[in-house]
Amino acid sequence: MPQTGDHVVPEPAARPPRVDPSVAHNARVWNYWLGGKDNFEADRRVGDHVRRAFPVIGDVARADRRFLARAVGFLAGTAGVRQFLDIGTGLPSADNTHDLAQAVAPECRIVYVDNDPMVLVHARALLTSRPEGATRYVEADIHRPEAILAAAAETLDLGQPVAVMMLGILNFVLDTDEAYAIVRRLMDAVPSGSYLAVTHPTVELGGEANVAAMAFWNENAAPPIRSRTGAEIAGFFTGLELVAPGLVSCSRWRPGPDEADAAPVPQYGGVARKP
Ligand SMILES: C[S@@+](CC[C@H](N)C(=O)[O-])C[C@H]1O[C@@H](n2cnc3c(N)ncnc32)[C@H](O)[C@@H]1O
Repeated sequence: MPQTGDHVVPEPAARPPRVDPSVAHNARVWNYWLGGKDNFEADRRVGDHVRRAFPVIGDVARADRRFLARAVGFLAGTAGVRQFLDIGTGLPSADNTHDLAQAVAPECRIVYVDNDPMVLVHARALLTSRPEGATRYVEADIHRPEAILAAAAETLDLGQPVAVMMLGILNFVLDTDEAYAIVRRLMDAVPSGSYLAVTHPTVELGGEANVAAMAFWNENAAPPIRSRTGAEIAGFFTGLELVAPGLVSCSRWRPGPDEADAAPVPQYGGVARKP
C-alpha cells in the first residue's frame, strides 16, 4: 500500500487516451449539464436534445452532485469511514469525493474508478490529496469488479471499512442480474461497517419523459443507459441496512437547511451499512 501522503499518479499511457470528440460520451455530457467546460460540440448537441425531451435533466445532475456532498459528509462524519471507492467518478468538479471527505478527515484515502478516456485526461485534478491521506485514479470498467478490487487494494486496506460509491453508474450495467452480482462482489470484499451509496435514474418520481430521452441517448451517444424501478434499485441494498431516510429521490436524502424545500427529482438515492 502507498505510504501516507502518496499521490499515485497514473502511469503515462502507452498510447494517448482514445477520446472521440465526434460521439457524445456520458462523462462529458454530464459535465455539460452541470455547467462544465470539458465537453465537445457533439456532447452539447446530444445534451441539448435530451434536455428538450426531459427538461429536468440539469436538476437531476445537480441534485446527484449535492447528494454526493451530503452522503460523503455523513460517511466521513457520523459514520466515521476513512476509505472511499468511487466507481463512475465522472469528470472532476469543484467538490470531488476526496475534497469532501478530507475536509472532514484529512487522512481519508480515496480510489477513483472510471473508464472514460476524457476522465483519465483530467484525472490529475482528482489527485490533489491532503498529505495525511491518499488518492488514486484507476482506469477500469465496472463490469470487471475483480480488477477494480485488485487495484483498489493497492491504496485501500480492504480489511477496514470502505464506502463504495456508485453514483449514476449502475444504470450503465444493462443486465440487472449482472448489476446485482457486481454490487454483491464489491460488498463481499469489504468488512462489516462498510457502506454502499447509490444513485440511479428512474421513470418513477415524475421521470416519465426520461423514456424518450434515454431512447434518443441510446441511438446517439455512449455508453447505453437504462432506468430502473425503485423496487429494482432497492435490490442493490439486499443484505445491507439502509440508513434513514431509506431509498428516496436523491434531492430528498437528508437535505441541508438550504435545501429543505428541494423538489423531488427522478433519480433515487440511498446509503446502506454492511452489518
Ligand atoms: C452520470 S456520470 C456520474 C458521475 C458521478 N458519479 C456523479 O454522480 O456525478 C457516470 C460516470 O460513469 C462512467 N461510466 C460509464 N460506464 C462505465 C463503465 N462501464 N465502467 C466505468 N465507468 C463507467 C462514465 O464515464 C461517467 O463518468
